[in-house]
Amino acid sequence: VLATAITMIVSYLICGIPFGKILVGLMSHKDIQKEGSGNIGTTNALRVGGPKVAALTLAFDLLKGMVCVVVFRDVVYAGSSWSASSTVSYPLLVALVALACLYGHIFSPYLKFHGGKGIATGVGILFGFYWPLALIHLAIFIVLVAITRYVSVGSIVTAALVPFTVFLTQPGIPLPALAVWAILGWSVVFAHRGNIARLRAGTENKLSFGSKKGE
Ligand code: G3P
Repeated sequence: VLATAITMIVSYLICGIPFGKILVGLMSHKDIQKEGSGNIGTTNALRVGGPKVAALTLAFDLLKGMVCVVVFRDVVYAGSSWSASSTVSYPLLVALVALACLYGHIFSPYLKFHGGKGIATGVGILFGFYWPLALIHLAIFIVLVAITRYVSVGSIVTAALVPFTVFLTQPGIPLPALAVWAILGWSVVFAHRGNIARLRAGTENKLSFGSKKGE
């Protein structure tokens, strides 16, 4: 448990690094939080800084989530004396580490506990956890964005589905672990509440390179 707690704290601190803000600041000399939607994620990096900086933001945000989960599974957990009979199950521990990663990104300690919306980091977490799950979510996301031209619609729907896809792909997952995955997915939906309000009002940004609405 101590090793998991330490991993959660370290994951939170690593995933809190706002790569979108850093990269747009360095490469485009703009403050991503003051332009476009004000979000620090890939979509807004594309609006504010263009494709190159957006691709790098995506890569770093994705990798930070993936690396933390993989390091927990393959180094921390694998090297510990946990056994299958432990009262706290491995699925719960890995779900907690995943949640710590996501909350690092959404409630960044370096941005006064503000942050991103958790899509790239969330996909990275899923890649680290069980890569086919990440591919399922990516596929649904791409189809939805292609049809609607709203990145947020793809994000919200795929995030809302997390507990269901985890349940289907992880047979026998203990309920507490599934509950943590539900909190994770639905926290991403909650992080999109501004987008949901804009979608309802018909003012959400369609996928484009120009910046419009503020958040
Ligand atoms: O994942 C972020 C995306 O769903 C919405 O981003 O900048 O339009 O709020 P943004």
